[in-house]
Amino acid sequence: MTTEMITAAASGTWQLGDRTVNRLGYGAMRTMAKGNGDPSDRDTVIAVLRRAVELGVNHIDTAAFYFSSLRSANELINTALAPYPDDLVITTKVGPGRGPAGDWLPEARPEQLRGQVEENLRQLGRDHLDVVNLRIGAGLDRGVGTLADRFGALAELREAGLIRHLGVSNVGPDHLREALAVAPVVCVQNKYSLTTAREDDPFIELCAEHGVAFVPFFAIAGGGNVSGRPSAREATDRDRAAAAAAEQVAAEHGVSPAQVRLAWTLHKGPNVLAIPGTGNLGHLEENVAAGALRLTDDDLARLDTIG
Ligand SMILES: NC(=O)c1ccc[n+]([C@@H]2O[C@H](COP(=O)([O-])OP(=O)(O)OC[C@H]3O[C@@H](n4cnc5c(N)ncnc54)[C@H](OP(=O)(O)O)[C@@H]3O)[C@@H](O)[C@H]2O)c1
Repeated sequence: MTTEMITAAASGTWQLGDRTVNRLGYGAMRTMAKGNGDPSDRDTVIAVLRRAVELGVNHIDTAAFYFSSLRSANELINTALAPYPDDLVITTKVGPGRGPAGDWLPEARPEQLRGQVEENLRQLGRDHLDVVNLRIGAGLDRGVGTLADRFGALAELREAGLIRHLGVSNVGPDHLREALAVAPVVCVQNKYSLTTAREDDPFIELCAEHGVAFVPFFAIAGGGNVSGRPSAREATDRDRAAAAAAEQVAAEHGVSPAQVRLAWTLHKGPNVLAIPGTGNLGHLEENVAAGALRLTDDDLARLDTIG
């Protein structure tokens, strides 16, 4: 597939509340380091962020806790893209937190969430955040408050105008119902891919019934390594079969397995958005072009029968 002139608009659009986004977006977690762990090249990732927007990407996922000793995803986004285009939706996430040296802190209690929201506002240079996901971890079992308590704290910040829309991350259907009872939810962000366990298949439909976007992370990386081929240690027979099917379908379309993986997630429903992460310009262009890849029923059957 030639990637020239294919923009994120080819993936179609979805409404995150009152904001319209192209379904093919970008995840900023990969702006800090190269695949081998070395610090990213600052000019390169700034160029990647600018190219993403040039290619029509208007949904970028980030977090204040995406930082290394030298790089901060939010700072890079601010430097590359401010003053921000009007149509750009930046989604961030709160709940987990890290100290200045990068150590992970206990999950935020309800009264600590305002500080995390304000940290994102300062770093991104904005007066309000477009979308904030409450990222749930094991902390719910360690006395940091119920989901409703924590989501309620974010709902108050939304009422105060610091946040436009709310989402939840790393959750199941009951969490979504609990959150919806507190305030409107525009998105669910969960780990989901061709090669990870797919308990979320019916959850995608539940999200759609509520008008909620389902936003997979690790859509390319899956449960395996970045090439889309599960590492020998992690691979199950199903992973290996899915990776082989993705390679075969990719070869038939003249595209890469990563593009098939992204296209496959987008085919799971109109409410499914992609946020592939990359620090590589060529990969970015490939990923955006995947929004134009239309898989056939036969392709989908071959990829899906593995799940
Ligand atoms: N809510 C949560 O708990 C949570 C957790 C994790 C991540 N996230 C968000 O989800 C986003 C997506 O996750 P992710 O970035 O970890 O995983 P991903 O998008 O599934 O895969 C990214 C990895 O695949 C490689 N890659 C990207 N495009 C490629 C291509 N066309 N061909 C070959 N390799 C390619 C990248 O390396 P290169 O840089 O070399 O391209 C990177 O190592 C993150 O950026 C982050 O914003 C959310």
